[in-house]
Amino acid sequence: MKKTIGIIGAGNMGGAIYRILKQSRLAKRVYIYDKHANKTNALKARADVLGLQDLLTQSDIIILAVKPQSFKDLADEIGVEIKNKLIVSVMAGVSTQTISGLLKSKKIIRAMPNMAARIGQGVVGWFANKPVLKSEKTDIARLLSVLGLAVEVKKEPLLDVVTAVSGSGPAYFFYLCGLLEAQAVRLGLDKKSARVFATQTFIGSATLLKVSEQDAGQLCLSVISRKGTTAAAMEVLKKNGFAKIFERALSAAFKRARELSKLYE
Ligand SMILES: NC(=O)c1ccc[n+]([C@@H]2O[C@H](COP(=O)([O-])OP(=O)(O)OC[C@H]3O[C@@H](n4cnc5c(N)ncnc54)[C@H](OP(=O)(O)O)[C@@H]3O)[C@@H](O)[C@H]2O)c1
Repeated sequence: MKKTIGIIGAGNMGGAIYRILKQSRLAKRVYIYDKHANKTNALKARADVLGLQDLLTQSDIIILAVKPQSFKDLADEIGVEIKNKLIVSVMAGVSTQTISGLLKSKKIIRAMPNMAARIGQGVVGWFANKPVLKSEKTDIARLLSVLGLAVEVKKEPLLDVVTAVSGSGPAYFFYLCGLLEAQAVRLGLDKKSARVFATQTFIGSATLLKVSEQDAGQLCLSVISRKGTTAAAMEVLKKNGFAKIFERALSAAFKRARELSKLYE
């Protein structure tokens, strides 16, 4: 797929997408634009920076990586015809209908990657609206595969679930890993060792889960010996409602994705 790709927004996600797309050499050319030059400078992207209107004109595929709250202003700034370009939005919440309406573009793909896209190990849920052709969907699936595992969802509202689960997901894992590290230090390990033990526990467990025939619940049980150390820890988590807290956290993320979609209704 030798297409020219233009990324608008060079923050956490736009920057991650830029880097991995450049590495992949999948695109004919990757352009990027952010209203803050320091963001593109930090990416050492100077040779790929274009102004907004030039980026829109010269790109076949336009990736929207601004915050949902910034989208209306961005749409107002667009001064060139883009109705036949493929638009890929990674914005949480904002619907294909809203994007199509504000940009006067027909073909919209909504994708929800996560931060592991930085190393091509993300998972990306995506949805294409009706006008996107089959061949274009094939191109998009290939493009998104550079970010990690790309999974098409057939109903757009499911992207709000994907947002809460895997879009925000790395934050839950980093948070938990940070807690594990902090407790390792409190109990006596030095900081460097704490990081090694905590991080490798996550990497090893995730890899085991990926290759195992057992699901997460079964694997969890396999670590808990009766009256052992893990049983003691799990007892505290259960007694103190860890599952309920997590349920409330996920519901809050899901609700926020819905609220963001209402920004433009
Ligand atoms: N971060 C993640 O892990 C993640 C995961 C999945 C999806 N996403 C989605 O990715 C999008 C970007 O998130 P992010 O975390 O990368 O945000 P971010 O770090 O704030 O980056 C967005 C960048 O776009 C700039 N921008 C805003 N309006 C613009 C405009 N009109 N023209 C050019 N640049 C403009 C922003 O500037 P200002 O700071 O001035 O606004 C900022 O530099 C969001 O919609 C989010 O839902 C993020």
